[in-house]
Order: sequence, then structure tokens, then C-alpha cells
Amino acid sequence: MDFTVKPLSPSLAAEITGLDLTQPLGANVIGAVRQAWLDAGGLVVIRSQKLTTAHHIAFSRQFGPLFGAPGQPPLQDTVSRYLHPEHPEIYRVSNKVEGGVAMGRARAGTYWHSDVSFRDRPAAASILNAIEIPAVGGDTLFADMAQAYAALSDTMKKTLAPLRAVHDFAVAAASQYAKPIVVEKDLEGGNRSVHPVVRTHAETGRKSLYVNPGFTSHLEGFAAAESRAILDYLYAHATRPEFVYRYRWQRGDVVIWDNRSLMHYAVADYGDEPRYMERTTVIGERPQ
Ligand code: SIN
Repeated sequence: MDFTVKPLSPSLAAEITGLDLTQPLGANVIGAVRQAWLDAGGLVVIRSQKLTTAHHIAFSRQFGPLFGAPGQPPLQDTVSRYLHPEHPEIYRVSNKVEGGVAMGRARAGTYWHSDVSFRDRPAAASILNAIEIPAVGGDTLFADMAQAYAALSDTMKKTLAPLRAVHDFAVAAASQYAKPIVVEKDLEGGNRSVHPVVRTHAETGRKSLYVNPGFTSHLEGFAAAESRAILDYLYAHATRPEFVYRYRWQRGDVVIWDNRSLMHYAVADYGDEPRYMERTTVIGERPQ
């Protein structure tokens, strides 16, 4: 199966056309898609797909082990109520209600973050299938943490090189989740990890900033106010418009993004219009 790749942004996004993800693609095509994804800078979209949940899982598995798959760790207890009832690999991002029960996490990720960065082995890829989208709004922003790192001064790069940051689900729990929803177990250290502030991508060798406002609690070894000031600077820098790409969804889009080099932010500006996405999350390596 041949496909073509067209850049959507100068540094981080491309569109792949010519693929039907309901079909088995074979190792060579998957390898080429993976290379196109890395070459694009971390985001590819494959439009007009008609994936069942099973297709989505089968395609995603070829990018690595999935959170929630048999024998793999779940995303975390707090979001277990938002997983697909028959497919625990699928996290449902949805504001829809079925039989009086929320079918997914409404307005998930309305803050800059990198998926699951609070785990020792955080997400490499996330793969989102757009099932229902609002007429307008509900876009997702992506910030290019490799470009942001590259644009820092050499002095700042040297300062950041030895630093480590603590990532903790408790940061998001405090600001993004209503109290009764958070499962206490998720706050007891199982969702806390320490990672380098600058990570080297395991596949491309490129360096990226690896801190995010959603989950990073502080930099090790600094006073709280010092840590806050440095992190706030890095977040303001990384989210400058020249590093940010805004993705406008269409129904049937399948977007693969690389959490190792991108942060993302789901814009919740669509009122009560239905928005329903299904996400698989590929377990990555320990950041180095
Ligand atoms: C997420 O995975 O953070 C949700 C992204 C989105 O809904 O656009």
C-alpha cells in the first residue's frame, strides 16, 4: 500500500494519505508510517478513516505495548471509569452521557501536558480516533518541545542539562478533577516519577524539554519559588506561537502524536456540543 506525506506545519505535523487503517498494513508499511511520523516532528494525521474500536487497537498495537492491554499496566485507577467497558486499552474522551452515566472523560486534557508523564515509563505515542466532533471548536494544540529546546541559549541548555523534575498525577488531580472522582491510591506515589528536564528521543536522538504544567510538580534541589520561576519560564517559552500547531479535527481523523517531544492541550470551547474521541496510549521507554 503506497501512501503520501504532506507537511501541515514547518516542524511538527504532516498528513498521510492513501492508507486504510482497517486493513492489515504489514510490517514494511507500519515501519514507513512510523518513520514519517518521526520525520514530521511527532504528529501525523490520517483522515477519513472508519475504524471500529478493534481496528483502532490492532493498528495502535503495532506502535508498542498499550496501557490497559492484557499484562500491561492500566493508565491509572482514577480514569478507569472512562475506559471502554469491553476494551480497557481505550480511554474515552467524551462529554456524552449514556443512560445517565458519563461515557468518557469530558473535556479531558484542557491543560498543557504530555500523557502519563508521571509514570516511570510514560507514553510514547497517543493515537486518537475522532468519532464525533463539534461543528466548530474542540481543536487540540500541540507544542513542539524539541524546537523549544533548540531555541534556548547555550547557557540555558547547560543549566538545564543536569536537572531533574518530579512529575506527579496529584498536580492534575488538584486542579482538573473534582474531589470525589480521584482515587486516593493514585495520589500515594504510584503515579509519581522523576525524569530529566531535557530528554533525548530514543529514536531520533533529538533533545526536547520534558516538563509540563499538567503533571510536573517541581524541579529537584530548588526552593519552591525558584523551581516555579524556572518552570514558568520554560512553559511560557515552549508555548510561544512559533512552537505551537493547532489541529482542527474532522470526523474520522486518526492522529498519532509523540508525547516524548510534544505537549498538547485540548481546547474546551464547544459548549454542550458532543465531542467523542477514543484514545490508545502506547507505553514508551524510561526517559533519558
Ligand atoms: C488528551 O488526550 O489529552 C485529549 C486530547 C483531546 O481531546 O483533544
